[in-house]
Amino acid sequence: MLKKKLTWVLILLLLIGISAGYLILNSNDKAMEQLVNMNYTEEEAKQIKDLGIANDVISFGDSDLFETAFRQNKVTKDNYKRYLKANDSLPSGYSMEEVISNMDAMAAQGYTDEEGFSLMSRYGKDVTGQLFSYPKPEKLDTVLKLIDKGYSVEQSIKLSGESTDIIDLLIGEDADYELLSTLQEKGYTLSETVNIMKSIPSEYHELLKKMKYLPSLEKLAFEEGFKFDLLPRYILAIQYNSKTPCEAVSWVNANGDYVSANSVNYSGLYHDEKEIKDPTSITVYVNKQNYLPSDYVPADLVDLPSGYYGNGQPMRKEAADALIKLSDDAVAAGYSRVYGQSNYRSYALQNSLYKRYSANSGTAGADRYSARPGFSEHQTGLAADLGGGVYSMTDFQYFPGYKWVCQNAHKYGFIQRYQSGKEFLTGFQYESWHFRYVGVEAATIMYEHDWTLDEYVVLFDN
Ligand code: DAL
Ligand code: ZN
Repeated sequence: MLKKKLTWVLILLLLIGISAGYLILNSNDKAMEQLVNMNYTEEEAKQIKDLGIANDVISFGDSDLFETAFRQNKVTKDNYKRYLKANDSLPSGYSMEEVISNMDAMAAQGYTDEEGFSLMSRYGKDVTGQLFSYPKPEKLDTVLKLIDKGYSVEQSIKLSGESTDIIDLLIGEDADYELLSTLQEKGYTLSETVNIMKSIPSEYHELLKKMKYLPSLEKLAFEEGFKFDLLPRYILAIQYNSKTPCEAVSWVNANGDYVSANSVNYSGLYHDEKEIKDPTSITVYVNKQNYLPSDYVPADLVDLPSGYYGNGQPMRKEAADALIKLSDDAVAAGYSRVYGQSNYRSYALQNSLYKRYSANSGTAGADRYSARPGFSEHQTGLAADLGGGVYSMTDFQYFPGYKWVCQNAHKYGFIQRYQSGKEFLTGFQYESWHFRYVGVEAATIMYEHDWTLDEYVVLFDN
């Protein structure tokens, strides 16, 4: 009896075993079938099944990302869920291959997939490509704000380590990315750059971009009482009067560097003379320390039209055209015609003039008003001694249109070169008549900041 019961139990167990086995086999076949329906080859379906992930793959449904990753042999039992993503939760504009390679890169740098995807969507390939080449920054938010402001990824990561007040300056409303990068390109360190940006009012920022690298700028700008328009004189005080930046600011502010016209040592200013390298530059700087090669003759001298000149001396084309316009506009403004009385002078002519003057007035006398040969702007073909109507050059200051010329010459590219009160900077006595063509941009800068060419060249390349 007992034996019979046992037999029945065994039979029952066997039947259960057989049907379970059947069910398993059947469901395996079904999984294979479904995977094949999802466009996997039988071989692939089998691999998926062997990984033990078939059910999840099937129940998720089609995933291009998973399929691509699987075919790239990226999928393992541990990571497969990363790739099971619906197409519409992936960053747009990327191929599946690109998404996968980014996933590798961002995971290696410490980003979650979600973070990475949202960055990819927001910033695109270039920026995220760079971003994912660095470990995830500690202050990712700050880095992103900087990137939004226009800084490069590399700069943003570097800058994100700066203090909050610097960061505020960099991403604040008037933050000027271009200024920051331009100053750094010139050679200022980041902290100098930031200090310069902070201490120099924004109205000067455009000018800062054009200026050359000035080693003392940051220290000067930090000094109490710093006035931007006196910057060239501060720098000259450091260079020639051995002042510290701190001393320079208070000294120049108090006019300590000023020397009255009568006390300037006009001959003593000839020292350490250097030959000018590029005499053709429109902003070429000729003074008592910088002379033109004796054989320099401008290549583009042209005669002025009749009525526009005094003694027939030519000028460089650009300067002549500008003088013609200035002269016409003076007439249009109601004044007599302005004309260039003495313009280009050769080295030889300047030599004979200077000889004559020094014979008459002595060296010290001649050096007040006449340049030695090679040291005259007239040899550049860019200078004109102006007369107006019946007023010859020496009376130019009495010409009714004189004020108009002084106030408008920069619009035509001219500056008054030897101003009254600036003799200690120019090295010559006041010449109301001597105008120099430097181009509209430079002339306007000098006019607006009340800088002589001597001051301008302290700040700008010429
Ligand atoms: N009179 C000016 C300075 C010259 O001789 O060039
Ligand atoms: Zn002159």
